[in-house]
Amino acid sequence: MSTTETTKNSQYYIDLENQHGAHNYHPLPVVLDKGEGVFVWDVEGKKYYDFLSAYSAVNQGHSHPKIVNALIKQAQTLTLTSRAFHNNVLGRYEKFTCEYFGYDKLLPMNSGAEAVEAALKICRKWGYEIKGIPENKGKIIVCNKNFHGRTTTIVSFSSDSSANKNFGPYSSGFINIDYNDLNALETALKSNSNVSGFLVEPIQGEAGVYVPDEGYLAKAKALCEQYNVLFIADEIQTGIGRTGKLLAVDHEGVKPDILILGKALSGGMYPVSAALANNEIMKVMTPGTHGSTFGGNPLGAAVAIAALEVIRDERLAENAEKLGNLFRNELGNYIETSQIVKLIRGKGLLNAIVINDTQDSDTAWNICLALRDNGLLAKPTHGNIIRFAPPLVMNEEQLLDCISIIIKTLKQFEV
Ligand SMILES: Cc1ncc(COP(=O)(O)O)c(C=O)c1O
Repeated sequence: MSTTETTKNSQYYIDLENQHGAHNYHPLPVVLDKGEGVFVWDVEGKKYYDFLSAYSAVNQGHSHPKIVNALIKQAQTLTLTSRAFHNNVLGRYEKFTCEYFGYDKLLPMNSGAEAVEAALKICRKWGYEIKGIPENKGKIIVCNKNFHGRTTTIVSFSSDSSANKNFGPYSSGFINIDYNDLNALETALKSNSNVSGFLVEPIQGEAGVYVPDEGYLAKAKALCEQYNVLFIADEIQTGIGRTGKLLAVDHEGVKPDILILGKALSGGMYPVSAALANNEIMKVMTPGTHGSTFGGNPLGAAVAIAALEVIRDERLAENAEKLGNLFRNELGNYIETSQIVKLIRGKGLLNAIVINDTQDSDTAWNICLALRDNGLLAKPTHGNIIRFAPPLVMNEEQLLDCISIIIKTLKQFEV
């Protein structure tokens, strides 16, 4: 098959994927071939609002010209050196990003899961070499309903059976506690002196946008300090403007000991992720202890600098804060009298509605199909929850248009 063939219809591409690709996803039936800002187009030319932003990777909007330019310029110059040699972009990216987020050092990776793995390794090594945990006895506390990626170690401590069933034997060394439960955290810390870290999402995104009680993150951080345990924030989905602040932990003035970033770190243009920490922690990583052929490549580094500049220069966190309030107010008003939606929750432009039906019902899926037909793309998460996360470059007029599409669609499902 030629890669330059003329465009076929959506069903053709869906069939191709079904026939030749592993079935490890269940995508909404829509085939996209173009994106610009808050919009995407399908192969038939229909235009949609993107209300998922590739799971919050495209915070800066599709094909942001500044990021595209950085990508093209760097692609024409130097793309990959591996870490066998230095390159003239990586150090600039590391300095820029460390100053941007307030850390001494950055460890560059590619996908989100890889950055989580890096953080777990840094944390374990810190536990043995700095805290003095006996060899192979280290523990890391994690939360039920977490989502940190898909590697065998990460799915080992997932409480989602579709993520880990038949992928055992599982990695040990993790203690699962309930999210948003400070007593559980304190009990786990008190009863085990071999804990080196607490890994947490400031808002549980994949689980269905669970926002913890106000004060949870600050108190959890204080408990970690009390027990000499590293507070590790997975901000892969919540970070980089999404929740109305640069980081979701900023809502509570918390500074994680290890910060994990991915997704919007590149504006969705290229896989770029990172773990950041200060010297007293990052010093445990020495030559040979971790790495990746692509991690820290000049192409990703140039893209990431541009992506972070866009967030800052276009004040996208502030926009997310303002539009998020408007979104929850307007939809909240509608939901007060709705039979089909139970509630809306979220922060900034990371929100979800909970559909008034059982978890295994297909109502949320059907609503997403109807949203698609009405020109807006969103996806259910965990059965009866629909996440709403548009690009942060959206303006107020566009958001009001989206709200009316969502309300019009929900009305089709009211009994
Ligand atoms: C909080 C969180 N951590 C980690 C990941 C994994 O990132 P990736 O899919 O790039 O490996 C995700 C992806 O959705 C995420 O939301």
